Amino acid sequence: MRQKQGGGQHGSSCIYSKWHSTILNRINQPGFSAPFLMAVVSLVICSCAGGGGGTTTPVPLPDPLPPPVINVPNLYLLAPMSMTVGVAVPAGRSKMSLLKSTGRQTIVNHHFSQLTAENIMKPRHLHPAESTFFFDDADALVDYAASQDKTVHGHTLIWHNRLPNWMNNFTGNEVAWTTMMTDHITVIASHFAAGDIVVSWDVVNEAFTDTDNDGDGLNDLRNTIWHDNIGAGYLAAAFRAANAADPNADLYYNDYNIAGSRAKLNAVLDLVDQFQNDPSPVPIHGIGFQMHISLTWPGIDQIRESFALAVDTGLKIKISELDIAVNTDRSRKPLSLTEFTDAVAVQQQKRYEMIVAAYMDEVPEAQRGGITVWGIADPDSSKRSYNAFEWPLLFDDDLISKPALQGFADGLTGGR
Ligand code: G3I
Repeated sequence: MRQKQGGGQHGSSCIYSKWHSTILNRINQPGFSAPFLMAVVSLVICSCAGGGGGTTTPVPLPDPLPPPVINVPNLYLLAPMSMTVGVAVPAGRSKMSLLKSTGRQTIVNHHFSQLTAENIMKPRHLHPAESTFFFDDADALVDYAASQDKTVHGHTLIWHNRLPNWMNNFTGNEVAWTTMMTDHITVIASHFAAGDIVVSWDVVNEAFTDTDNDGDGLNDLRNTIWHDNIGAGYLAAAFRAANAADPNADLYYNDYNIAGSRAKLNAVLDLVDQFQNDPSPVPIHGIGFQMHISLTWPGIDQIRESFALAVDTGLKIKISELDIAVNTDRSRKPLSLTEFTDAVAVQQQKRYEMIVAAYMDEVPEAQRGGITVWGIADPDSSKRSYNAFEWPLLFDDDLISKPALQGFADGLTGGR
């Protein structure tokens, strides 16, 4: 009899075997009672259910969430005519270039009214040597946009990243540096001014740090080759040069974390205030909120307040690089997800709706510079360069629309 205890199909750790020997011992004892027997019987039944392979009445699992309905034929047509719905696109030599991918072209043509070059309109690509400008890839993208009746948002004339080596190694005094910078801007902005496809530019990108070292409540200017060699005046000089080269283009200051960091937003608003109150006002037309955010950061109330404060400047407000990470923390550290579950998809859908609705509520129509997502589909996302398990965009690895697309659409229409 004992053998079972140890042996058989249950294994020693199974709760069932312990009870088995106890029961047998009891039945042979005086004072054995009927209620005790009933208890024994039911115990046997339920413990069998655990591991015994006996016949079980399966515990009904909750019905799976019905897959969200995605019914968005053309995303950009859900926005007011005056507002662009844009997307950053790979181009040039990129193996996922829009110009080489009919699948991506189909998405872009159907859902977006404006393109931003993710990389090929940055200084290193357009100005590889001091006396050499390379416009072929960018012109091809602009021609594609024109062929699809789309516009282009230029990204970016002055930045501390993606600069050609000759620029980083440039030597000269403040005047020489200012001339080099304004020549760079003038040649590029006037090249695209010739057509009416490139309608706006990020003139300066990410000029502020994420810290307020001097405690004045405003984040500090970043030490870039421009700031170090020209001084803080490089920003105004850049905007004046861009405006002179293309008087019709909307000129933006663009940055990240300004929706989530009040000290960084204050630094941007202070810059705009200086520009607007300069004896000879500096031409600036918009503020670009990059919005590389997550499911939970920044809080929606802070985002709404930030939009409202920026609206008070009277400038256009653009969400310029929206993506919503579901599996990456703020320090770019991957979290634990290894698959994009339906539950996460619905969370992301709600988050896209929340963000777009906040923008539509807080930014008056006349000041809407539009909303651009930073990539066509998940495999294109820059976040994949440091987290393979990330799904931040509106289309998946098979270029199929995600619930996020419906969320964006519902944010535009208020779910109507
Ligand atoms: O073109 C070279 C290629 O020749 C080389 O073989 C390859 C391997 O190293 O690198 C390629 O360059 C990469 C480039 O993307 C084009 O794919 C760079 O290494 C890589 O650093 C660059 O990353 C871009 C990053 O900006 C830096 O410019 C990302 O795609 C782009 O999404 C990202 O976008 C920035 C915005 O401009 C500003 N705001 C933040 C946003 C996300 O980081």
